[in-house]
Amino acid sequence: MIRVGLAGIGFMGWIHYLAYKKVSGIELVAVSEPNEKRLSGDWRDIKGNFGPPGEMVDLSKIARYTDYRDMLADKNVDVIDCCLPPSMHSQAAIAASQAGKHVLCEKPMALTTAECDDMVQAANAAGKQLFIGHVLAFFPEYAHVIELIRSGKYGKLLGGTFKRVISDPAWMTDFWDEKRCGGPLIDLHVHDAHLIRLLFGMPSSLISVGRLRGDIVEYCNTMFHFSDPSLVVSSVMGVVNQQGRPFTHGFEIHLEKATMHYEFAGFQDKGELMPLKILTEDGQVIRPEVGGEDAAEPFAREITEVVKSIEASQPSATLSGDLARDAIVLCHKQTESVRTGGLVRI
Ligand SMILES: NC(=O)c1ccc[n+]([C@@H]2O[C@H](COP(=O)([O-])OP(=O)(O)OC[C@H]3O[C@@H](n4cnc5c(N)ncnc54)[C@H](O)[C@@H]3O)[C@@H](O)[C@H]2O)c1
Repeated sequence: MIRVGLAGIGFMGWIHYLAYKKVSGIELVAVSEPNEKRLSGDWRDIKGNFGPPGEMVDLSKIARYTDYRDMLADKNVDVIDCCLPPSMHSQAAIAASQAGKHVLCEKPMALTTAECDDMVQAANAAGKQLFIGHVLAFFPEYAHVIELIRSGKYGKLLGGTFKRVISDPAWMTDFWDEKRCGGPLIDLHVHDAHLIRLLFGMPSSLISVGRLRGDIVEYCNTMFHFSDPSLVVSSVMGVVNQQGRPFTHGFEIHLEKATMHYEFAGFQDKGELMPLKILTEDGQVIRPEVGGEDAAEPFAREITEVVKSIEASQPSATLSGDLARDAIVLCHKQTESVRTGGLVRI
């Protein structure tokens, strides 16, 4: 049994807690959180932009610490699950690796590329695994298309466009702070940057056109260039100020023999879905049943991948630190391109 210590009982800590209950071979044995109410098991004030609200949680059999640093010495803990704010990820992950723990760290991996490099190096030096919680690849529609693309059934990838746009997240006080959260590219688009890196490899250059809010890119469209010039890959991401549509994401992916389309938008009154469709070269519209499920399910699949990788002593191709580091590089390059108004080499 793999034993986990959870650092940070906020929105993500709650969702991870729910996910651990669904996965065998791994169990939560410790938590750390400075908020005394939450450390006592009263998680009712936790609310995020998806999933159920927090509940009363029985922590009587779980070791409790007010600071994640105290949890690192707990010999019962094999994995530190870092659900801390983004600015704390690198210091926590490095300290956990140095304490001889595997690390599962929420996205974004860290705020700077240098921090990401240090995290990878610390895990390698300790001979421990580092997983970055890029859960998008485990959402049913995304998981389905990744599998189909890898199967080769519809031929070579030609490109795609990836969308992630939100209204101003007024509840996230640090969102626009470069040193604490990083803004829309680092906190939001990083999901698609990771997916683009996973599907197409590392771009050789990119060009972004966008709007800045202060020094932070508020909204931008990006074209990614690859050594294979036939790949046409783009993204649209950012914040628009109208509060009527708090969240939308989706994609259109082109292959030689099919187009894959999906979009979900959360409007203020209700969510609307354009379910996943595979449009084939002979005119079929295939609507795969990918299943409705509760919010913790994709996180449970992500954690299942962590269990498999630790048991096999093999790094995860999807959750590796190297891939997540590249996603952070792509976010910073887009900022550079918007600020300079030109093509940026990678
Ligand atoms: N994968 C996703 O879909 C997704 C969604 C939302 C957030 N996230 C990411 O998850 C991470 C956490 O976000 P969140 O919304 O849960 O934040 P949050 O602010 O709700 O939770 C962070 C928690 O860490 C605690 N904390 C602070 N210092 C600590 C310390 N020294 N020791 C232990 N705990 C400490 C805070 O008190 C807080 O409860 C962020 O990186 C965020 O980007 C991912």
